[in-house]
Amino acid sequence: MGPFDDPVSTAIGTHSSAGSSYLTSSAFCGTCHDVTSPTGLRLEEAFSEWQNSPAAECGQNCQSCHMGPVPGVPVPIDQRPLGRAATVPDVDPQRIPLRRLSDHTFAGPDYSLLPDTEFPHKLDWMYEVDYRQFDQLTPYQQKTLTELRRANRTALRIASEKRYQLLRNAARIAVQAPAWADAGQAIGIRVDVTSITAGHSFPTGFTAERQAWVQITVRDPHGRTIFQSGDLDPNGDLRDEHSYAVEKGKIPFDKYLLNFQNKFTALTTIGTDRSVILSVNRHLQPVNVLRPATGVAASYGRPASFRLAKGSLPPLATMGRTYPVQLPHLAGSYRIDVRLLFRHLPPVLLDRIGTSHLKHLLESVVIDHRQAVIQVGQSAVGNLCSPSDSAALRYLNQRSSSPSAATVETKP
Ligand code: HEC
Ligand code: HEC
Repeated sequence: MGPFDDPVSTAIGTHSSAGSSYLTSSAFCGTCHDVTSPTGLRLEEAFSEWQNSPAAECGQNCQSCHMGPVPGVPVPIDQRPLGRAATVPDVDPQRIPLRRLSDHTFAGPDYSLLPDTEFPHKLDWMYEVDYRQFDQLTPYQQKTLTELRRANRTALRIASEKRYQLLRNAARIAVQAPAWADAGQAIGIRVDVTSITAGHSFPTGFTAERQAWVQITVRDPHGRTIFQSGDLDPNGDLRDEHSYAVEKGKIPFDKYLLNFQNKFTALTTIGTDRSVILSVNRHLQPVNVLRPATGVAASYGRPASFRLAKGSLPPLATMGRTYPVQLPHLAGSYRIDVRLLFRHLPPVLLDRIGTSHLKHLLESVVIDHRQAVIQVGQSAVGNLCSPSDSAALRYLNQRSSSPSAATVETKP
């Protein structure tokens, strides 16, 4: 079964085949990309979000963004590249019709955390031999293993490039800051995140683990940080209620954090909700003890009292925040650096599920990046031209990173 109404496999003598319009519908993707746990928890909602989206309204299906030439950009089927969808042994390629090609990579935020010997391909003999002892392998095994690793690395690199492309087609940031201010003044820096995805919320799917957040740093003329939000704790986690260091009181809670992650929330014994990483109560300071599960949480996935607190950005919506920054009594150029970052899994989750050794493989992808400068003068100078009132606010949206460069930050 395939998307074409005029299959030729019977004519060229392979197997019987038929066209199916179901395969080209969003409903087909929706059979798997809406996940409800047996307890009724709406775990993933890509399909239902799409059904209520601007994309659905104008007839853009999942395939247009996820199977076209540019991940995340809707390309109608009649604008896709033409080519032959298959090569069939002993059949003249001219007999295989030219088709509009679909990309089957299904690039998404996820990537393999396995070594390059394991994924996407592995050879049959590798299941019977300890191939880590390269010297002890036969020449044939050494040769095929080297070829496999090279091919796997190439495939993973192509998949990563598509992943970065998809993510960069999700959202943009805009920064509004005063161009001038007085030393010692309290200013506001406005950061807005706008979804450019008409298809569903950002993030979507496995939203409880996806982190899409704003990292802002303001530095004084000497390069010292005078304000930051969205920076990472010593474990590489955000400074939110899931951070060990925040929980232990070692570093302050990031009260201005703008993070679009949807968090798992469980009912506590005193009737309130609390955000949790896993469905078991393993917080260092269980002030609010979680209500015990009434069923077998292991088989139902989550206890009955679980829900997802939605924080994601709806399609094409804008959400932002004004960061209050107290300037010190020092004149000069202050630099503002703002990034929209995305991470598919937080380090604390890997700790909780016993895979801490994989934390170094987590990467934060830079979706968008802006920089701005505030000229800070002594108060008298500032008052002369009174430039620091709100009328002087202006958009400073020079893109400082080239959109084609793969900007990836690894965990420090
Ligand atoms: C207008 C383009 C567009 C359409 C239409 C669209 N998507 Fe997406 N999709 C994106 C972009 C951009 C991302 C990356 C940002 C994100 O994760 O939200 C994405 C991410 C995803 C992810 C990764 C989620 C995760 O777990 O992190 C899934 C799964 C997905 N889409 C499924 C679908 C399905 C199913 C449909 C149709 C019901 C659909 N998409 C329609 C653009 C689109
Ligand atoms: C038979 C079930 C099934 C169907 C049908 C299906 N998917 Fe998926 N899809 C999955 C599973 C399972 C994953 C892997 C989950 C993961 O990576 O978190 C996945 C992964 C993805 C991803 C990557 C997500 C990530 O986290 O990186 C995208 C994008 C995606 N699917 C889009 C689609 C689209 C578009 C369609 C329809 C053309 C579709 N899927 C149809 C089950 C399905």
